[in-house]
Amino acid sequence: MSRVVLRPYHLTKLGKIYHNDCLDVMSTMRANSVDLVMTSPPFGLTREKEYGNVREQAYLDWFKPFAEEFHRILKESGSLVIDIGGAWKPGRPIRSLYHFKLMIMLCEEFGFHLAQDFYWWNPSKLPTPAEWVNIRRIRVKDGINTVWWLSKSEWPRASNRRVLQPYSPSMEVLLLNGYKAKKRPSGHEISDKFSINNGAAIPPNLLAIPNTESNSAYMRYCQERGIKTHPARFPADLPEYFVRMLTDPGDMVFDPFGGSCVTGEVAERLARKWVCAEMVENYLEGAVGRFVQKPFTERPMPKDADAYYRVPRPSLMWNGPDPIPLASDGGRKRPPVRKARGDSSPASRDASSPVQDAAE
Ligand SMILES: C[S@@+](CC[C@H](N)C(=O)[O-])C[C@H]1O[C@@H](n2cnc3c(N)ncnc32)[C@H](O)[C@@H]1O
Repeated sequence: MSRVVLRPYHLTKLGKIYHNDCLDVMSTMRANSVDLVMTSPPFGLTREKEYGNVREQAYLDWFKPFAEEFHRILKESGSLVIDIGGAWKPGRPIRSLYHFKLMIMLCEEFGFHLAQDFYWWNPSKLPTPAEWVNIRRIRVKDGINTVWWLSKSEWPRASNRRVLQPYSPSMEVLLLNGYKAKKRPSGHEISDKFSINNGAAIPPNLLAIPNTESNSAYMRYCQERGIKTHPARFPADLPEYFVRMLTDPGDMVFDPFGGSCVTGEVAERLARKWVCAEMVENYLEGAVGRFVQKPFTERPMPKDADAYYRVPRPSLMWNGPDPIPLASDGGRKRPPVRKARGDSSPASRDASSPVQDAAE
Protein backbone atom coordinates (compact mmCIF):
# COMPACT_ATOMS: atom_id res chain seq x y z
CA MET A 1 0.00 0.00 0.00
CA SER A 2 1.24 3.52 -0.76
CA ARG A 3 2.89 5.69 1.88
CA VAL A 4 2.02 8.93 0.09
CA VAL A 5 -0.16 11.19 2.23
CA LEU A 6 -2.23 13.62 0.24
CA ARG A 7 -4.20 16.65 1.29
CA PRO A 8 -7.00 17.75 -1.02
CA TYR A 9 -6.55 21.23 -2.47
CA HIS A 10 -10.31 21.64 -2.59
CA LEU A 11 -13.28 19.55 -1.49
CA THR A 12 -16.88 19.59 -2.70
CA LYS A 13 -19.91 17.53 -1.75
CA LEU A 14 -18.90 14.82 -4.24
CA GLY A 15 -15.36 15.50 -5.30
CA LYS A 16 -11.75 16.24 -4.46
CA ILE A 17 -9.07 18.20 -6.25
CA TYR A 18 -5.46 17.31 -5.57
CA HIS A 19 -2.53 19.57 -6.35
CA ASN A 20 -0.24 16.61 -6.95
CA ASP A 21 1.29 14.44 -9.58
CA CYS A 22 -1.52 12.09 -10.60
CA LEU A 23 0.84 9.11 -10.14
CA ASP A 24 0.97 9.97 -6.43
CA VAL A 25 -2.80 10.38 -6.33
CA MET A 26 -3.35 7.04 -8.05
CA SER A 27 -0.92 5.31 -5.70
CA THR A 28 -3.43 6.02 -2.92
CA MET A 29 -6.42 4.68 -4.88
CA ARG A 30 -7.65 1.12 -4.49
CA ALA A 31 -7.49 -1.32 -7.41
CA ASN A 32 -10.80 -1.75 -9.28
CA SER A 33 -12.36 1.35 -7.72
CA VAL A 34 -12.93 3.78 -10.61
CA ASP A 35 -15.74 3.64 -13.18
CA LEU A 36 -14.38 6.17 -15.65
CA VAL A 37 -11.01 7.81 -16.26
CA MET A 38 -11.88 10.81 -18.44
CA THR A 39 -8.95 12.93 -19.47
CA SER A 40 -6.99 15.01 -21.89
CA PRO A 41 -3.28 14.43 -21.26
CA PRO A 42 -0.57 16.83 -22.35
CA PHE A 43 -0.31 16.24 -26.09
CA GLY A 44 2.83 14.90 -27.70
CA LEU A 45 5.44 17.37 -28.82
CA THR A 46 7.04 16.42 -32.05
CA ARG A 47 10.49 17.91 -31.90
CA GLU A 48 12.31 14.98 -33.33
CA LYS A 49 15.91 14.02 -33.07
CA GLU A 50 17.65 13.35 -36.36
CA TYR A 51 16.49 10.26 -38.25
CA GLY A 52 13.62 8.60 -36.55
CA ASN A 53 10.81 8.98 -34.15
CA VAL A 54 12.50 9.43 -30.82
CA ARG A 55 9.94 11.98 -29.65
CA GLU A 56 7.06 9.63 -30.41
CA GLN A 57 8.79 6.87 -28.48
CA ALA A 58 9.59 9.30 -25.65
CA TYR A 59 5.88 10.15 -25.43
CA LEU A 60 4.91 6.49 -25.25
CA ASP A 61 7.57 5.82 -22.58
CA TRP A 62 6.36 8.84 -20.60
CA PHE A 63 2.79 7.51 -20.74
CA LYS A 64 3.54 3.97 -19.56
CA PRO A 65 3.41 4.48 -15.76
CA PHE A 66 0.08 6.30 -16.15
CA ALA A 67 -1.29 3.50 -18.33
CA GLU A 68 -0.36 0.91 -15.75
CA GLU A 69 -2.11 2.81 -12.99
CA PHE A 70 -5.21 3.53 -15.09
CA HIS A 71 -5.56 -0.19 -15.70
CA ARG A 72 -5.09 -1.01 -12.01
CA ILE A 73 -7.60 1.50 -10.59
CA LEU A 74 -10.35 0.88 -13.17
CA LYS A 75 -13.14 -1.56 -12.44
CA GLU A 76 -13.55 -4.45 -14.89
CA SER A 77 -16.66 -2.68 -16.19
CA GLY A 78 -14.88 0.67 -16.41
CA SER A 79 -13.66 2.88 -19.26
CA LEU A 80 -10.69 5.07 -20.06
CA VAL A 81 -11.49 7.97 -22.39
CA ILE A 82 -8.54 9.95 -23.76
CA ASP A 83 -8.94 13.13 -25.79
CA ILE A 84 -5.73 13.60 -27.75
CA GLY A 85 -4.87 15.91 -30.62
CA GLY A 86 -2.63 14.95 -33.49
CA ALA A 87 0.58 16.74 -34.39
CA TRP A 88 2.67 17.60 -37.43
CA LYS A 89 6.25 16.56 -37.78
CA PRO A 90 8.33 19.70 -37.21
CA GLY A 91 9.19 21.55 -40.40
CA ARG A 92 7.54 18.96 -42.62
CA PRO A 93 4.00 18.69 -43.99
CA ILE A 94 3.42 15.20 -42.62
CA ARG A 95 1.72 13.94 -39.50
CA SER A 96 3.08 12.30 -36.41
CA LEU A 97 1.65 8.90 -35.62
CA TYR A 98 2.09 9.25 -31.85
CA HIS A 99 -1.61 9.32 -30.90
CA PHE A 100 -2.32 6.18 -32.92
CA LYS A 101 0.72 4.51 -31.41
CA LEU A 102 -0.51 5.47 -27.95
CA MET A 103 -3.86 3.79 -28.57
CA ILE A 104 -2.17 0.68 -29.99
CA MET A 105 0.26 0.54 -27.06
CA LEU A 106 -2.58 0.81 -24.55
CA CYS A 107 -4.33 -2.12 -26.21
CA GLU A 108 -1.38 -4.32 -27.05
CA GLU A 109 0.85 -3.73 -24.00
CA PHE A 110 -1.58 -2.80 -21.24
CA GLY A 111 -4.57 -4.98 -22.03
CA PHE A 112 -7.11 -2.28 -22.86
CA HIS A 113 -9.69 -2.78 -25.60
CA LEU A 114 -10.66 -0.13 -28.12
CA ALA A 115 -14.38 0.06 -27.37
CA GLN A 116 -14.79 2.78 -29.99
CA ASP A 117 -12.81 5.55 -31.61
CA PHE A 118 -14.43 8.97 -31.56
CA TYR A 119 -13.56 12.12 -33.48
CA TRP A 120 -14.16 15.49 -31.86
CA TRP A 121 -14.64 18.08 -34.58
CA ASN A 122 -14.07 21.59 -33.29
CA PRO A 123 -15.71 23.81 -35.92
CA SER A 124 -14.05 26.89 -34.42
CA LYS A 125 -10.46 25.65 -34.84
CA LEU A 126 -8.20 28.03 -36.75
CA PRO A 127 -6.57 26.79 -39.94
CA THR A 128 -3.11 25.77 -38.78
CA PRO A 129 -0.27 25.20 -39.36
CA ALA A 130 -0.35 28.37 -41.45
CA GLU A 131 2.73 27.34 -43.40
CA TRP A 132 1.11 24.26 -44.96
CA VAL A 133 -2.53 25.33 -44.91
CA ASN A 134 -2.56 29.07 -45.67
CA ILE A 135 0.72 29.83 -47.35
CA ARG A 136 1.71 26.81 -49.43
CA ARG A 137 -1.92 25.56 -49.62
CA ILE A 138 -0.88 21.92 -49.65
CA ARG A 139 -2.84 20.62 -46.62
CA VAL A 140 -6.29 21.32 -45.21
CA LYS A 141 -7.37 22.53 -41.79
CA ASP A 142 -6.77 20.03 -38.99
CA GLY A 143 -10.12 20.32 -37.22
CA ILE A 144 -10.40 17.14 -35.16
CA ASN A 145 -9.01 15.51 -32.05
CA THR A 146 -9.17 11.78 -31.66
CA VAL A 147 -10.97 10.54 -28.57
CA TRP A 148 -10.06 6.97 -27.71
CA TRP A 149 -12.72 5.15 -25.70
CA LEU A 150 -10.82 2.23 -24.18
CA SER A 151 -12.15 -0.36 -21.78
CA LYS A 152 -10.74 -2.87 -19.37
CA SER A 153 -13.07 -5.64 -20.50
CA GLU A 154 -14.81 -6.19 -23.82
CA TRP A 155 -18.12 -5.27 -22.20
CA PRO A 156 -17.77 -1.93 -20.39
CA ARG A 157 -20.96 -0.48 -18.94
CA ALA A 158 -22.45 1.87 -21.53
CA SER A 159 -25.71 3.07 -22.97
CA ASN A 160 -26.18 5.15 -26.09
CA ARG A 161 -29.67 6.03 -24.80
CA ARG A 162 -27.93 8.62 -22.60
CA VAL A 163 -26.53 10.55 -25.55
CA LEU A 164 -29.33 10.57 -28.09
CA GLN A 165 -29.69 13.59 -30.33
CA PRO A 166 -32.63 15.22 -32.11
CA TYR A 167 -33.50 13.89 -35.55
CA SER A 168 -32.07 15.95 -38.38
CA PRO A 169 -34.57 18.01 -40.40
CA SER A 170 -34.26 15.54 -43.33
CA MET A 171 -34.96 12.58 -41.04
CA GLU A 172 -38.02 14.42 -39.66
CA VAL A 173 -39.33 14.70 -43.24
CA LEU A 174 -38.63 11.02 -43.86
CA LEU A 175 -40.48 10.04 -40.69
CA LEU A 176 -43.41 12.20 -41.74
CA ASN A 177 -43.62 10.78 -45.27
CA GLY A 178 -42.75 7.20 -44.36
CA TYR A 179 -39.99 5.01 -45.77
CA LYS A 180 -40.49 2.09 -48.18
CA ALA A 181 -38.56 -0.96 -46.95
CA LYS A 182 -35.98 -1.97 -49.55
CA LYS A 183 -32.50 -3.22 -50.15
CA ARG A 184 -29.94 -0.45 -50.50
CA PRO A 185 -27.38 -0.55 -53.35
CA SER A 186 -24.82 -1.26 -50.59
CA GLY A 187 -26.67 -4.51 -49.87
CA HIS A 188 -28.10 -3.34 -46.52
CA GLU A 189 -31.70 -4.35 -45.93
CA ILE A 190 -33.57 -1.30 -44.62
CA SER A 191 -36.76 -2.54 -42.99
CA ASP A 192 -39.90 -0.49 -42.40
CA LYS A 193 -38.79 -0.19 -38.74
CA PHE A 194 -36.45 2.53 -40.05
CA SER A 195 -39.41 4.89 -40.24
CA ILE A 196 -40.55 4.34 -36.65
CA ASN A 197 -40.24 7.56 -34.72
CA ASN A 198 -38.23 6.74 -31.59
CA GLY A 199 -38.20 10.36 -30.51
CA ALA A 200 -34.47 10.80 -31.03
CA ALA A 201 -31.55 9.57 -33.10
CA ILE A 202 -28.55 7.45 -32.17
CA PRO A 203 -25.50 9.70 -32.61
CA PRO A 204 -22.45 8.87 -34.70
CA ASN A 205 -18.91 8.77 -33.33
CA LEU A 206 -18.27 12.27 -34.63
CA LEU A 207 -18.77 14.88 -31.92
CA ALA A 208 -19.24 18.43 -33.20
CA ILE A 209 -18.42 20.74 -30.31
CA PRO A 210 -17.02 24.25 -30.76
CA ASN A 211 -14.41 25.18 -28.16
CA THR A 212 -15.50 28.79 -27.83
CA GLU A 213 -16.24 29.27 -24.14
CA SER A 214 -16.01 33.02 -23.47
CA ASN A 215 -18.60 33.94 -20.88
CA SER A 216 -18.83 31.00 -18.51
CA ALA A 217 -18.83 31.24 -14.73
CA TYR A 218 -15.25 29.87 -14.82
CA MET A 219 -14.08 32.61 -17.20
CA ARG A 220 -15.76 35.32 -15.15
CA TYR A 221 -14.30 33.96 -11.92
CA CYS A 222 -10.80 34.06 -13.42
CA GLN A 223 -11.23 37.49 -15.02
CA GLU A 224 -12.57 39.08 -11.83
CA ARG A 225 -9.54 37.85 -9.87
CA GLY A 226 -6.88 38.32 -12.53
CA ILE A 227 -6.24 34.55 -12.70
CA LYS A 228 -4.86 33.23 -15.97
CA THR A 229 -7.32 30.77 -17.53
CA HIS A 230 -6.07 27.31 -18.46
CA PRO A 231 -4.77 27.44 -22.05
CA ALA A 232 -5.93 23.97 -23.18
CA ARG A 233 -9.36 23.34 -21.77
CA PHE A 234 -11.82 20.97 -23.39
CA PRO A 235 -15.45 22.06 -23.65
CA ALA A 236 -17.72 20.67 -20.92
CA ASP A 237 -19.88 18.88 -23.50
CA LEU A 238 -17.01 16.51 -24.25
CA PRO A 239 -16.59 14.96 -20.77
CA GLU A 240 -20.34 15.25 -20.22
CA TYR A 241 -21.02 12.99 -23.21
CA PHE A 242 -18.86 10.19 -21.79
CA VAL A 243 -19.82 10.70 -18.14
CA ARG A 244 -23.47 10.32 -19.16
CA MET A 245 -22.91 7.38 -21.50
CA LEU A 246 -20.53 5.40 -19.30
CA THR A 247 -21.46 6.06 -15.67
CA ASP A 248 -24.43 6.24 -13.29
CA PRO A 249 -25.00 8.72 -10.47
CA GLY A 250 -22.82 7.76 -7.53
CA ASP A 251 -20.10 6.23 -9.76
CA MET A 252 -16.49 7.40 -9.50
CA VAL A 253 -14.94 9.55 -12.25
CA PHE A 254 -11.23 10.42 -12.25
CA ASP A 255 -9.39 13.03 -14.31
CA PRO A 256 -5.64 12.56 -13.77
CA PHE A 257 -4.64 15.57 -15.91
CA GLY A 258 -7.34 17.81 -14.47
CA GLY A 259 -6.24 21.26 -15.70
CA SER A 260 -9.15 23.56 -14.89
CA CYS A 261 -11.22 20.60 -13.60
CA VAL A 262 -13.97 20.71 -16.25
CA THR A 263 -14.44 16.98 -15.69
CA GLY A 264 -14.98 17.60 -11.98
CA GLU A 265 -17.54 20.31 -12.68
CA VAL A 266 -19.49 18.04 -15.01
CA ALA A 267 -19.33 15.09 -12.58
CA GLU A 268 -20.52 17.25 -9.67
CA ARG A 269 -23.47 18.52 -11.71
CA LEU A 270 -24.38 14.97 -12.75
CA ALA A 271 -24.13 13.61 -9.18
CA ARG A 272 -21.09 11.39 -9.80
CA LYS A 273 -18.25 11.18 -7.28
CA TRP A 274 -15.02 12.52 -8.74
CA VAL A 275 -11.32 13.22 -8.25
CA CYS A 276 -9.12 15.57 -10.31
CA ALA A 277 -5.33 15.80 -10.05
CA GLU A 278 -3.31 18.72 -11.41
CA MET A 279 0.36 19.58 -10.93
CA VAL A 280 0.23 23.31 -11.66
CA GLU A 281 -1.26 25.31 -8.82
CA ASN A 282 -2.10 28.36 -10.98
CA TYR A 283 -4.58 26.25 -12.90
CA LEU A 284 -6.27 25.15 -9.70
CA GLU A 285 -6.77 28.71 -8.47
CA GLY A 286 -9.19 29.18 -11.35
CA ALA A 287 -10.56 25.64 -11.20
CA VAL A 288 -11.85 26.23 -7.67
CA GLY A 289 -14.11 28.93 -9.13
CA ARG A 290 -16.14 26.20 -10.79
CA PHE A 291 -17.29 24.99 -7.38
CA VAL A 292 -17.63 28.08 -5.22
CA GLN A 293 -20.12 29.96 -7.33
CA LYS A 294 -23.88 29.76 -7.72
CA PRO A 295 -25.14 26.24 -8.47
CA PHE A 296 -25.56 25.38 -12.11
CA THR A 297 -28.78 26.08 -13.93
CA GLU A 298 -30.32 23.90 -16.62
CA ARG A 299 -28.85 24.48 -20.04
CA PRO A 300 -31.41 26.05 -22.40
CA MET A 301 -32.33 23.96 -25.45
CA PRO A 302 -30.43 25.47 -28.40
CA LYS A 303 -32.41 27.06 -31.17
CA ASP A 304 -32.84 24.85 -34.22
CA ALA A 305 -30.14 26.60 -36.19
CA ASP A 306 -27.60 26.03 -33.40
CA ALA A 307 -28.48 22.38 -32.90
CA TYR A 308 -26.71 21.10 -36.03
CA TYR A 309 -23.37 21.78 -37.60
CA ARG A 310 -23.71 21.50 -41.31
CA VAL A 311 -20.66 20.53 -43.32
CA PRO A 312 -20.76 21.76 -46.92
CA ARG A 313 -20.48 18.95 -49.42
CA PRO A 314 -16.96 19.09 -50.80
CA SER A 315 -18.27 19.23 -54.37
CA LEU A 316 -20.06 22.57 -53.98
CA MET A 317 -17.35 24.57 -55.75
CA TRP A 318 -16.17 21.96 -58.22
CA ASN A 319 -16.92 23.52 -61.53
CA GLY A 320 -15.06 22.60 -64.67
CA PRO A 321 -11.34 21.95 -65.03
CA ASP A 322 -8.94 23.17 -62.36
CA PRO A 323 -7.27 26.40 -63.56
CA ILE A 324 -3.96 26.18 -61.71
CA PRO A 325 -1.74 23.14 -62.21
CA LEU A 326 -0.30 21.46 -59.10
CA ALA A 327 3.22 22.47 -58.10
CA SER A 328 5.41 19.63 -59.33
CA ASP A 329 7.59 19.89 -56.18
CA GLY A 330 4.60 19.25 -53.86
CA GLY A 331 4.96 22.75 -52.35
CA ARG A 332 8.60 22.34 -51.32
CA LYS A 333 9.38 25.84 -52.64
CA ARG A 334 7.57 28.59 -50.70
CA PRO A 335 5.39 30.78 -52.95
CA PRO A 336 6.50 34.41 -53.25
CA VAL A 337 4.94 36.68 -50.65
CA ARG A 338 2.11 38.81 -51.94
CA LYS A 339 3.13 42.47 -52.35
CA ALA A 340 0.23 44.90 -52.36
CA ARG A 341 -3.04 44.39 -50.53
CA GLY A 342 -4.91 45.85 -53.53
CA ASP A 343 -3.67 43.11 -55.83
CA SER A 344 -6.73 41.08 -56.66
CA SER A 345 -5.40 38.78 -59.34
CA PRO A 346 -6.72 35.22 -58.99
CA ALA A 347 -3.32 33.93 -57.81
CA SER A 348 -3.03 36.45 -54.98
CA ARG A 349 -6.66 35.96 -53.98
CA ASP A 350 -6.04 32.26 -53.83
CA ALA A 351 -3.14 32.70 -51.43
CA SER A 352 -4.71 35.25 -49.10
CA SER A 353 -6.39 34.67 -45.76
CA PRO A 354 -6.47 36.44 -42.42
CA VAL A 355 -4.18 33.82 -40.90
CA GLN A 356 -1.70 34.15 -43.72
CA ASP A 357 -1.68 37.92 -43.22
CA ALA A 358 -0.84 37.33 -39.58
CA ALA A 359 1.91 34.89 -40.54
CA GLU A 360 3.44 37.36 -42.96
C1 LIG B 1 -4.42 19.23 -21.73
S1 LIG B 1 -4.35 19.79 -20.07
C2 LIG B 1 -5.89 19.28 -19.42
C3 LIG B 1 -6.93 20.36 -19.51
C4 LIG B 1 -8.25 19.97 -18.90
N1 LIG B 1 -8.89 18.88 -19.61
C5 LIG B 1 -9.20 21.17 -18.91
O1 LIG B 1 -10.15 21.16 -19.71
O2 LIG B 1 -8.96 22.13 -18.18
C6 LIG B 1 -3.24 18.67 -19.31
C7 LIG B 1 -2.90 19.06 -17.86
O3 LIG B 1 -2.19 17.99 -17.25
C8 LIG B 1 -1.33 18.56 -16.26
N2 LIG B 1 -0.33 17.52 -15.92
C9 LIG B 1 0.72 17.10 -16.65
N3 LIG B 1 1.36 16.07 -16.04
C10 LIG B 1 0.67 15.82 -14.90
C11 LIG B 1 0.81 14.87 -13.85
N4 LIG B 1 1.80 13.97 -13.87
N5 LIG B 1 -0.08 14.89 -12.84
C12 LIG B 1 -1.07 15.81 -12.80
N6 LIG B 1 -1.27 16.73 -13.79
C13 LIG B 1 -0.40 16.74 -14.82
C14 LIG B 1 -0.80 19.80 -16.95
O4 LIG B 1 -0.30 20.74 -16.00
C15 LIG B 1 -2.04 20.30 -17.69
O5 LIG B 1 -2.75 21.27 -16.95
